[in-house]
Amino acid sequence: MVKQTVLIVDDDKIICRTLKYQLEKGGYKAVSANSGEECLYHLKQNDISLVLLDMKLPDRDGMQMLEQIRQVNSFLPIMIVTAYGSIESAVAAMKAGATDYITKPINFEAMMMKIEKALEARNYKKEIARIRAEEEGKYSFSRIVGRSQSIRQVLSLSERVAQSDASTILIQGESGTGKDLLARAIHYESSRRNKPFMEITCTALPATLLESELFGYEKGAFTDAKARKEGLLELADGGTVFLNEIGHMEIAVQAKLLSVLEYRTFRRVGGTEEINIDVRVIAATNRDLKTAVDEAAFRDDLYYRLHVLPITIPPLRERREDIMLLAHFFLEQFNKEFRKEIDGISEATQEYLTNYDWPGNVRELKNMVERAVILENERVITPALLPPEIRKPKVDDTVYKLPKDGISLEAVEKQLIKQALDMAGWNQSKAAQLLRLGRGALQYRMKKYGFLT
Ligand SMILES: Nc1ncnc2c1ncn2[C@@H]1O[C@H](COP(=O)(O)OP(=O)(O)OP(=O)(O)O)[C@@H](O)[C@H]1O
Ligand SMILES: [Mg+2]
Repeated sequence: MVKQTVLIVDDDKIICRTLKYQLEKGGYKAVSANSGEECLYHLKQNDISLVLLDMKLPDRDGMQMLEQIRQVNSFLPIMIVTAYGSIESAVAAMKAGATDYITKPINFEAMMMKIEKALEARNYKKEIARIRAEEEGKYSFSRIVGRSQSIRQVLSLSERVAQSDASTILIQGESGTGKDLLARAIHYESSRRNKPFMEITCTALPATLLESELFGYEKGAFTDAKARKEGLLELADGGTVFLNEIGHMEIAVQAKLLSVLEYRTFRRVGGTEEINIDVRVIAATNRDLKTAVDEAAFRDDLYYRLHVLPITIPPLRERREDIMLLAHFFLEQFNKEFRKEIDGISEATQEYLTNYDWPGNVRELKNMVERAVILENERVITPALLPPEIRKPKVDDTVYKLPKDGISLEAVEKQLIKQALDMAGWNQSKAAQLLRLGRGALQYRMKKYGFLT
């Protein structure tokens, strides 16, 4: 492991040397600075992990020094060294952002423990910042792939909504169109990004459980409520609550939710206290809410409340330009994941992919590409590996659509016979072939409809 470097800032050279000796004995590297100027120089030149700062410097006030160090590096642990008895200055320094303090005369053993603790905490902070950054990257709008006009409209609307103060957003779309992905992108691209994103799927729980998950409960609210529990709405304060599959939320919970959306306040189950919250609610559904309202399965007032800002992600079959782009995007992703080097997608495969209707939308496409990448031994993805439903040629079995008020079958037959005869230049054998009829059968119908006397 690389040794971590501690920067000692003290104008007393003897103290510097003693500290350096102790630190090196403890497994650290140490450099010293005798002035504020030197301190800043080292911070820029070396990879410093921690600063031991004496508050009395020849060229600077200790507090001022502290601020300057913070400006260079906001994560860096700074440990203040003060004379015994000047606790007030240590407290002031802590308030100004120092990590901890030690008093002179120095107890080296205690000092080493404090240093170790501070470095450990810094590593966590760094790790969390890294995870956060990764998560943010994962859920930005740029991760939503698509070049069709319709998806671009969805994205530009979502970007505006994310930046706005809008407190309630509804995302509609068939299963697998990317509602989860979009909800997260809206959160991570809003000013709420550093606050929690809490998700709950409304169908996963019975109504009473869903209620206590959302609103929390007071001790004694029901037999198992041994202690107060905060609900998701409270835990997400300042952030976003994502209500997945709201179309299937039970009516009893809908009423309570409506009141939260209207007044931004609620009570825990079994509680009397009104709790005020600042959360953005993003609801998603693959069910047509208007139909659910008509079927009395969804409250109309809640529907109108949610419908202030609806974002609808169109199904993949209505934006076929996106299919190949997504397929290549997933190809690259799974190549990396499974350490494969598949170059592309064969012409024939592309043909099948762009013509298929994708009832499972992007999720189905993604799963298909994953499977193909795992199994493919060729340089490109070949049709042999496509599931049969994708390889099936498209048969449109509703070319002839029956009008609502019906139609005379004889009139249709008459028209088709006339068209076949015209197409065949009134050659009866050819016309019979076009209609898959025998010549006699055609002649019978020609007589019937007055084409032959
Ligand atoms: N435009 C897109 N670009 C990249 N990946 C996408 C896109 N749309 C969807 N996906 C991916 O497809 C999968 C399904 O998306 P997601 O879970 O967001 O769909 P959903 O609409 O929430 O589905 P359901 O209604 O079943 O919950 C996820 O793995 C998601 O990352
Ligand atoms: Mg989903």
